[in-house]
Amino acid sequence: MDHRTPNLIDPAAARRGFSWTAARDELTGLPDGGLNVAYEAVSRHAAGPRAHAEALRFVRADGRRHSVSYRQLDDRMRRFAARLRSIGVGKGDVVCTLLGRQPELYVAALGALARGAVFCPLFAALGPEPVEARLARGHARVLVTTERAYRTKVAPARERLPDLRHIVLVDDETSWSAFQADPSAGDEIEGTSADDPALLHFTSGTTGAAKGALHGHAVVIAHHTTGRWVLDLRPCDVFWCTADPGWVTGTCYGIIAPLVCGATLLVDEGGFEPRRWYSVLRDESVTVWYTAPTAIRMLMKAGPDLLPTGGFPKLRHVASVGEPLNAEAVQWGAEALGRPVHDTWWQTETGAICIANLPAEPLVPGSMGRPIPGIEAAIARREGAHLIIEDAPDSEGLLVLRAPWPSMFRTYVYDEARYRKCFADGWYITGDRARRDAEGRFWFVGRQDDLIKSSGHLIGPCEVERTLMAHPAVVDAGVIGKPDPVAGEIVKAFVELHAGVTPDESLRRDILAYARRRLGPAVAPKELKLTDALPRNRSGKILRRVLKAQEVEQGDVG
Ligand code: PRX
Repeated sequence: MDHRTPNLIDPAAARRGFSWTAARDELTGLPDGGLNVAYEAVSRHAAGPRAHAEALRFVRADGRRHSVSYRQLDDRMRRFAARLRSIGVGKGDVVCTLLGRQPELYVAALGALARGAVFCPLFAALGPEPVEARLARGHARVLVTTERAYRTKVAPARERLPDLRHIVLVDDETSWSAFQADPSAGDEIEGTSADDPALLHFTSGTTGAAKGALHGHAVVIAHHTTGRWVLDLRPCDVFWCTADPGWVTGTCYGIIAPLVCGATLLVDEGGFEPRRWYSVLRDESVTVWYTAPTAIRMLMKAGPDLLPTGGFPKLRHVASVGEPLNAEAVQWGAEALGRPVHDTWWQTETGAICIANLPAEPLVPGSMGRPIPGIEAAIARREGAHLIIEDAPDSEGLLVLRAPWPSMFRTYVYDEARYRKCFADGWYITGDRARRDAEGRFWFVGRQDDLIKSSGHLIGPCEVERTLMAHPAVVDAGVIGKPDPVAGEIVKAFVELHAGVTPDESLRRDILAYARRRLGPAVAPKELKLTDALPRNRSGKILRRVLKAQEVEQGDVG
């Protein structure tokens, strides 16, 4: 087969004849009929012809490389799992990581899944407050992290986290080697079923603290299907997902999907730097690249001079996710990379890509594409407790998906009521607004709620407002996403001070620094304005909508 021929040649036929049961049969399954993500991602390859193929390739910040084969990864994850077993961590216990893109994270994630524990990644750039909130909410039992992150972000809260029994420090020789040296290496993979919990991902809510979306081992069915059909992955591929493994994309497509498809997963340990990224793409012979619109726009901004001569001859497919992908960015990909950027849509709750521009379908820049086989999507409006499906082409409304599918979240941990509110009449309500055209393509319109999307990260205004209000000078705060040409939105805070406090520049900076220390750079406001009075409705609720409208108006003028 020509290597440019997509894995899925006839999407329309696949949509008609698709069944998730048949998709599951494409995986190996456990001998007792169960399903385990780590087994499908690693062990089945380690026991077959891909045993010595490169599973992970780390490119370190200094450019050195380090590879791990499927057989080696299988051994390391089983040792980790065996150690979890020996310290009494079992099925359903939550194992968190607070790590950057380093080899231990991948071993811990897969080892936890092999043990039947629930893997929960925490983004390393989160500050102590969001870290504590997530550890507490998830009742985390084990945390794998670095000595520094533990000391600065977790140790001060340890007394308030009674469930957190084990800390594994990857940079402490004794601590980490105990998790790699267990004599019971070679242990069996835990006999999990498709419905047993596997992944816990925290996502921001419009009200209150972050919500923990829980997924079962069945996610791997959707990761396999979308890995092959949307990202076009095959065993010969070198796949690079630029999302941080502390977030849902970095776990589902930055760990699981490429391994399930038997590809080589490239992990760049260095940060974003256009020249470096181009050299990784070219010198590592990346064939499939999954990135984010913000990253594409940053490369566009860096200008064409940095592009390597000769381009990227090995690159076969490029896709993006997380925020709207503008038509210019799609086109830029075609010119600068030699491949147009294919937009894909999903969210933490959906567990896997649901709507996409499939490689075999004509690409329409600006559209998110069509539902993948096995997913039914529609546009709806609410009428009381019910949903009315809008069939007329081009009508705009709520984006809803017919429930269930294998990677659909199973609950919000310890908040079943909130989970149930996401469904009506057999549909899952995504919280996004969209439009569907006459050809069945979906176009993103916006979010239904106040959540902020900054550089692809979803940020809940409440979490930020609560921290700002803990500052002794602040009486109230309103937080919004301010439109930004590169990041999509940036977090902007409006702060009302206690009577008698002088609103000067040094106080403004102090509040910004205070928020950054507690929330971390990924969540803290980038801009902050001191104001006499925040806009409120009659019952005193802050009107973020008004703040946002003012900001957009000013942006238009400026
Ligand atoms: O609003 C949509 C936006 O990102 C949200 C999901 O964010 P999160 O749960 O953090 O998941 C990240 C993994 C995708 C969605 O509800 N979003 C996602 N993809 C797109 C998008 N907005 C526009 N276009 C997309 N392709």
